[in-house]
Amino acid sequence: MLRRLHPDQPESFAFTPANQAWAEAQITKYPEGRQASAIIPLLWRAQEQEGWLTRPAIEHVSEMLGMAYIRGLEVASFYFMFQLQPVGSVAHIQVCGTTSCMICGAEDLMAVCKKKIAAKPHELSADGKFSWEEVECLGSCANAPMAQIGKDYYEDLTSERMAEIIDEMAAGRVPVPGPQNGRYASEPLSGLTSLTEYDSGKTQYNASAQLATDIGDTIKRIDGTEVPLTAPWQGKAANASGKPPAKPKTRTAPSAPVTETKAEVAPAPASEAQSKAKPPRTETEPTPAAQAGAGKKPRTMKAPRKAGADDLKLIKGVGPKLEAMLNEMGYFHYDQIAKWGPAEVEWADQNLVGFKGRVSRDNWVEQAGKLAAGEQTEFSNRAKKDGIYKE
Ligand code: FES
Repeated sequence: MLRRLHPDQPESFAFTPANQAWAEAQITKYPEGRQASAIIPLLWRAQEQEGWLTRPAIEHVSEMLGMAYIRGLEVASFYFMFQLQPVGSVAHIQVCGTTSCMICGAEDLMAVCKKKIAAKPHELSADGKFSWEEVECLGSCANAPMAQIGKDYYEDLTSERMAEIIDEMAAGRVPVPGPQNGRYASEPLSGLTSLTEYDSGKTQYNASAQLATDIGDTIKRIDGTEVPLTAPWQGKAANASGKPPAKPKTRTAPSAPVTETKAEVAPAPASEAQSKAKPPRTETEPTPAAQAGAGKKPRTMKAPRKAGADDLKLIKGVGPKLEAMLNEMGYFHYDQIAKWGPAEVEWADQNLVGFKGRVSRDNWVEQAGKLAAGEQTEFSNRAKKDGIYKE
């Protein structure tokens, strides 16, 4: 695949102030002289902001990292996660065309893209909302055929489901990523035959799809005022005092739904097989906090205690976005949550915008009680062992 800069480039590039601050914080993760290691996350953030990676953006990032432009260009042009030409304003679809996916129907998926988006890869659809391309193996071969759409994987696809997903996105909805045929992850279609104990206590979706749903930025542009994609950097490099820096201010509102009007695309007829399959999952609409008046609002704190906020992500069901929301609402510590009674749980279940029912579903109170007592839960042990939320 020939990957080169697009002939039409903007005059300049600048990160939004929030993204600039985020990028500068990323650089502090690396020792003096090794700042170039931040090239991938910074290029990625530039792409998240603009939709595609422009030459001025590559140059800007290279300058920030003290790198020759050609070094930045080498990275940007090597990885096909970086889009070097404008992409659809709603989504860019990357269909895997390698062996497993090709055997399982990748050509049918590309036929849908050709019909509904554009005849050739990297061409914008007539309304400018979508683009597509064929890419090499994305490492999800057990769930073939699959496609990466925006930042997430849609797996176990059929041509009918692919068409539906495009229609849903055109209508402003974001289907839940992950397997689209009812599978939880990559277990046999007939169900688990071993390790069945892991069937209990699992999240609604598999870890990857759950995180994607929690973060909610599958096809959304990131201007930096959103909740950070990863836990804020807590290392010592940026702070000579050894104290972790204050958490960046984050917004509590969930990601705004795509507001594009519906594309003029004909809905695809559902196949017989699909009509028997589980209905496709879509994200629930955010519930305005003001609407929910049930229960009793738990007591809040203006700021965390001197020792700093607890890592609420060690509570199963709390991701980076939800943790930021809780902090903004005034909940920083395990013992705060551990004190919630049924009325407080009911209130929180209703008022965590975009995460309705999460508190009781995952039994936060019991988890928080254990963590507050210095004990570990099955989830916190696993999270620490896997290093998912390193402090
Ligand atoms: S062959 Fe498609 S994900 Fe590996």
